[in-house]
Amino acid sequence: MNNRKKILSVTILLVAVLQISFAQQNSIAINAQDAKYIINKNIYGHFAEHLGSCIYNGFYVGDTSMTIPNTNGVRNDIIAALKKLKVGTLRWPGGCFADTYHWKDGIGPKNKRPAIVNKWWGNVTEDNSFGTHDFLNMCEQIEAEPYLAGNIGSGTVQELIDWVQYVSSDNKNPMSDLRKTNGREKPWNVKLWGVGNEAWGCGGNMVPEYYVNEYRKYATFMTDWTNSDKIFRIASGSNSADYHWTETVMKNIPSNMVEGVALHHYSVIDWGAKGPSTSFNEQQYFTIMQRALFMDSLVIKHCAIMDKYDPQKKVALVVDEWGGWYDVEPGTNPGFLYQQNTMRDAMIAGVTLNIFHNHADRVRMANLAQAVNVLQSVILTNKEKMILTPTYHVMEMFNVHQNATMLPVTIKTNDYVFENKKLPAISVSASKDKDGVTHISLVNIDASKMQDITINVNGAKYSSVTGRVLTSKKLQDYNSFDNPLNIMPAVFNTAKLSANNLQVKLPPFSVVVLTLN
Ligand code: AHR
Repeated sequence: MNNRKKILSVTILLVAVLQISFAQQNSIAINAQDAKYIINKNIYGHFAEHLGSCIYNGFYVGDTSMTIPNTNGVRNDIIAALKKLKVGTLRWPGGCFADTYHWKDGIGPKNKRPAIVNKWWGNVTEDNSFGTHDFLNMCEQIEAEPYLAGNIGSGTVQELIDWVQYVSSDNKNPMSDLRKTNGREKPWNVKLWGVGNEAWGCGGNMVPEYYVNEYRKYATFMTDWTNSDKIFRIASGSNSADYHWTETVMKNIPSNMVEGVALHHYSVIDWGAKGPSTSFNEQQYFTIMQRALFMDSLVIKHCAIMDKYDPQKKVALVVDEWGGWYDVEPGTNPGFLYQQNTMRDAMIAGVTLNIFHNHADRVRMANLAQAVNVLQSVILTNKEKMILTPTYHVMEMFNVHQNATMLPVTIKTNDYVFENKKLPAISVSASKDKDGVTHISLVNIDASKMQDITINVNGAKYSSVTGRVLTSKKLQDYNSFDNPLNIMPAVFNTAKLSANNLQVKLPPFSVVVLTLN
């Protein structure tokens, strides 16, 4: 080989080595010394609306069902699965349905309850057999905190005052007496209340300047001078990036009258062309991930507005509707929003929970839409069969972070490149629980590339690392009624710990949770 050729081959080798090292530059630092905030368990909330087969033929099969084991009509398998998930809060009865719901229709003897038409969701007739008692008793079984969405769209102030008294008052008064007559002696003591839902849309098409006055009126009568019952009132919040809504709410509602402000954001490609839930292509995947990651920017900007009016962070940002929204499954009722759930949904869940953790100072509650058979569900049912979706598994793997101290992270990540667009490939969050155990959750959204990551734990001392991973062969894979265990968490034992460093190889489109002792 002559000198020229030698130089050329050395140069080619150098370029290759450089390319490899550039492709491996993911690095994460865990900054435990800056830890300050707790990851509120209520970030792990769910949503149960009277929509499609979420309540009827989902949670609730009726106490006369002979084929599906149930407790007072609620499926036992769903109760057990949600208990294992450690659900924070459960929001009910809507959504859009909430502002048409008159709670007194759903109490008392079931055969005397009026039937109603669910005008938002498929115009189906409901017999009101699932009402306030059914929901609150179910929450007790699941061990979830109930979150009731009050009707301020078509309801009245008196109706909401009565509902609060009915479920929470132990004093002698007409509503407490009525509850006792209906078989429940002790109140459930419900703390979390939504004051309307999407007031800018199905909740009344209000402008924020009008809504704040409505809010103030309802919020006044729900409690007393000092809110001595410690009711947690949540103002209807912005539709994604409507920052003017948050500004108007924060500016015009006195801070002693509001405990939470909501935010709704769905990952949707285009409301007119949402794309299929399973047979999507990489372009559709990339766009959905772009929408999901936009949550970070939304949270940052809404929080900045909240910080202006509430620097002490007393008011929580409550993301009480989030998740992926696609076309309904072919052949199903378009008003029922029934969709399958793939590894793409696992990616949405992983990155979104990481975002919430990293903003634990202000994001203290959230509700995935929705729990059963609607949108990005954790559970799907078909007659007596029930399956757990990839989203369920991510939420179960991540629940080790609940009520733990968030450890701030800094990250340098490779890009996930599709055509000429790019997104950060890696997402991360970390926490330390009350027993001193550290958990790190990692997501690689890249559709085809494995990611090598170096994690510096900055002076912390650990002696062991274990892990769990959720991934599959194809992004489009899902759990079906015929193959319910297709996607399941597995042991992840390739993370290497040495001194202050962890080396991790994340497979493409995977979610990993590491435990460090
Ligand atoms: O989750 C489905 C619907 O989406 C809810 O009813 C509504 O609040 C939102 O627009």
